[in-house]
Amino acid sequence: MKPTFYITTPIYYVNDKPHIGHSYTSIACDVLARFKRLTGYQVYFLTGTDEHGQKVAQAAKAQNQEPQALVDLNVQTYQNLWTALEISNDDFIRTTELRHKEVVQAMFAELYKKGDIYPGQYEGWYCVPCETFWLESQSEKGLCPDCGRALEKVSEKTYFFKMSKYEKPLLEYLEKHPDFVHPHGRYNEIMSLVKGGLKDLSVSRSKARISWGIPCPFDPDQVIYVWFDALINYVSALGYKKHQDLFNRFWPADVQMIGKDILKFHAVIWPTMLLALEVSLPQKIVAHGWWTVAGQKMSKSKGNVVDPYAIIAKVGVDAYRYFLLREAPFGLDGDFSEAALIVRYQADLANNLGNLVNRTLTMLEKYFAGVVPQVDFVPHVEKFKKLVTGLLPAIERKLAAAAFSQALESIWSLIDQANKYIEEEAPWKLAKSDPARLAGVLYTLVDVLRVAAVYIYPFMPGSALKIWEQLGLTESLPAANLNTVTLGQFPPGTKVQKGVPLFPKLV
Ligand code: MSP
Repeated sequence: MKPTFYITTPIYYVNDKPHIGHSYTSIACDVLARFKRLTGYQVYFLTGTDEHGQKVAQAAKAQNQEPQALVDLNVQTYQNLWTALEISNDDFIRTTELRHKEVVQAMFAELYKKGDIYPGQYEGWYCVPCETFWLESQSEKGLCPDCGRALEKVSEKTYFFKMSKYEKPLLEYLEKHPDFVHPHGRYNEIMSLVKGGLKDLSVSRSKARISWGIPCPFDPDQVIYVWFDALINYVSALGYKKHQDLFNRFWPADVQMIGKDILKFHAVIWPTMLLALEVSLPQKIVAHGWWTVAGQKMSKSKGNVVDPYAIIAKVGVDAYRYFLLREAPFGLDGDFSEAALIVRYQADLANNLGNLVNRTLTMLEKYFAGVVPQVDFVPHVEKFKKLVTGLLPAIERKLAAAAFSQALESIWSLIDQANKYIEEEAPWKLAKSDPARLAGVLYTLVDVLRVAAVYIYPFMPGSALKIWEQLGLTESLPAANLNTVTLGQFPPGTKVQKGVPLFPKLV
């Protein structure tokens, strides 16, 4: 039996088109999912869309459409982008699906039966764009503390979730599990938030005001609050209480990846819901920073939203994936600029990796008619062996800490070393003076490229497959196992096939 790994992205709102910020969470999860598959895990990678709530209802109204018609249309923009970005999710959940709605209603009813959901009167302020209720004391001048837009005053019947009852259990859990929230700074934030006290949470809305949601199973005048509904996707997708085998195999999730803006929902509300339902808590919530543009939040009104397809058209899918993960440390904010993207493209991809592939294959074609020689002496192989042996534990450690940029640096140290090796060994001189050494040098280079391609695959699947193909390798790259990939395994006699440059000159 393979060990399992369950990883989730947040489910995205479908009232608008995805931008590079949304793609960041999905790309990061995709890298972890692919890496885990390459290290022998059975992976379940979940993503999906958050389709209820007032925001969607309002967007539909503005377009003179039924909410269901709008979400059916908009969900495709996400699915198409994930296909374009080669996101390898195993499942895609939509909160309007029956399999989800059933679980949400069952959980809501279970908590009601238990007394953890109870009726009351809600009075307060509501931010429509954020779908969040605020206390008077939290807001300044009637504006939303998160987005700064005007709040609406509401007073209505509601059901409350007894979150206060789980304050102590959550605190105890957090104390025992200092790795529950990553990075640690975010864990501290959550600790102080919980220590500050948890209030009961309004988890239903009057149907008269918000009708686009999952109906409350025991009160026809109420619909379930969109965040209560949305968080449950992580277990409804596994068929909670329906497909026990799938659920038991993958729950609790190993990594739940989110942006810093939705940390409170995932590290406070979600765990208290699970504690109330007596379901295990996820292993780890990982929060990343935000992408800004010239230091500004991306927004339609500012007109600075970066369109993923424009970036794909410019540098290709792989450079896009590489840039987002290499440029900024994952927990911190990153600033997107086309200039920085181009610098990375030229330096790391075209001049470094692309050139290494190109030079190696050109020399092999020139000196050995493109056939990988059989060799018994490989100059400086120890240097490479040391690097390769240390690579897997280093990358495992870095990816476990969501340090994507550092993991890429480790892989690039192998590529740098190989480029340096070409300069030091000067194969063009060896061709005249020492053909046996030349054979050893070129063997090492294709062998290193073979190992590098497997490590690159989770980050840039398309480019890794192209390298693989140009190296003439026929076994399946996605089926490789990094635990057994080492140097010295390149089959002599393989015919390489130099293709078009991996990272062509930008126009
Ligand atoms: N629907 C909720 C999540 C429910 S999960 C049970 C939601 N959706 S969202 O579409 O607004 O955001 C989804 C993800 O995209 C979040 O992780 C958010 O942090 C991320 N990003 C949205 N804009 C972003 C940037 N500008 N930069 C980085 N990530 C950003 O919240």
